[in-house]
Amino acid sequence: MTPLGSRLDSSSRFALDQHLPADFAEQALRADVLAGLSATPKTLPPKWFYDARGSELFTAITRLPEYYPTRAEAAILAREAAEIATETSADTVVELGSGSSEKTHLLLDALRDAGTLARYVAVDVSESALVEAAAVLLEDYPELVVHSVVADFEQQLHLLPADGQRRLFVFLGGTIGNFAPAGRRAFLAAVRACMRAGDHLLLGTDLVKSPAVLVPAYDDAAGVTAEFNKNVLRVINRELKADFDLDRFAHVAVWSGEHEWIEMRLRSLGEQQVRIPTLNLDLTFREGEEMRTEISAKFRRPGVTAELDGAGLELRRWWTDGEGRFGLSLAQSAG
Ligand code: SAH
Ligand code: AVI
Repeated sequence: MTPLGSRLDSSSRFALDQHLPADFAEQALRADVLAGLSATPKTLPPKWFYDARGSELFTAITRLPEYYPTRAEAAILAREAAEIATETSADTVVELGSGSSEKTHLLLDALRDAGTLARYVAVDVSESALVEAAAVLLEDYPELVVHSVVADFEQQLHLLPADGQRRLFVFLGGTIGNFAPAGRRAFLAAVRACMRAGDHLLLGTDLVKSPAVLVPAYDDAAGVTAEFNKNVLRVINRELKADFDLDRFAHVAVWSGEHEWIEMRLRSLGEQQVRIPTLNLDLTFREGEEMRTEISAKFRRPGVTAELDGAGLELRRWWTDGEGRFGLSLAQSAG
């Protein structure tokens, strides 16, 4: 399949495929907003956080003292990257939801030092994040071919470039926790369907721990996560000409012990009406009504093993950071 848009730079070390249609932000967002905000309770899917501003806010979150997952996962990668390079002998790293690709440097360094690395494929809905990350990577790795792919990893994994003999699929940050359980199953099955013999999957999962640690990680003192959460309303205002008043919604993060996930919500401060003219939608929010904008599921090792197994993937290695906050799994196709 020919990508909608493909650009190759003159050195042929960088290519960018654009698989999202020009009206993606408008059309797909319309469908998600119509379905999510007509439902009870109201919900919005998290992929709409990540316009250029949202991607920057997420990077700011990763630097917050309360937000431990990025540092915990980076600590595991720093400790185990050489082992991962030995186990996989990967020539190609395919990273899904790569964002700024900062932690990926740890993996790329190890694979380069092992002498196998040839290519890095970065996949994200955020073109700005991909372009910025690629500029850094091309400079830091003079031999590396960087292939950036603007795509929705929930719908378009079949469009990814197939280059490489031994590929390491990478899904870091605990982003798998942002899917609902059925979405996780579908996603892992789709990744498995892309994998060939000799390929591996490296999967980051945040682990269940005390709400005293979890809740502040999603409700930081500086209010960056609140800004990130409200950014979805900015995106809807801009793309669908809605009139959400951001000051009339409060950021909420709650731990569900039943589901073992954090829920981010936006709570209406007073009764209010919101109009989305492009959808001909008039919404009423009750005083205190909460709309769910994200779940961030936390895992235990047996659950991760079972979910991988359910997708035909076999857990080969399991690592955690020294404080047992975050898990990193290396898996291969079971058959
Ligand atoms: N992997 C990085 C970034 C995690 S933030 C890290 O570990 O720090 C989640 C990333 O996934 C963002 O860059 C966001 O733009 C991307 N993303 C979210 N939903 C997506 C989707 N449906 N398809 C592709 N990318 C998506
Ligand atoms: C991208 N994802 C793993 C983050 C998380 O922790 O669930 C998104 C995020 N939401 C609030 N803070 C960070």
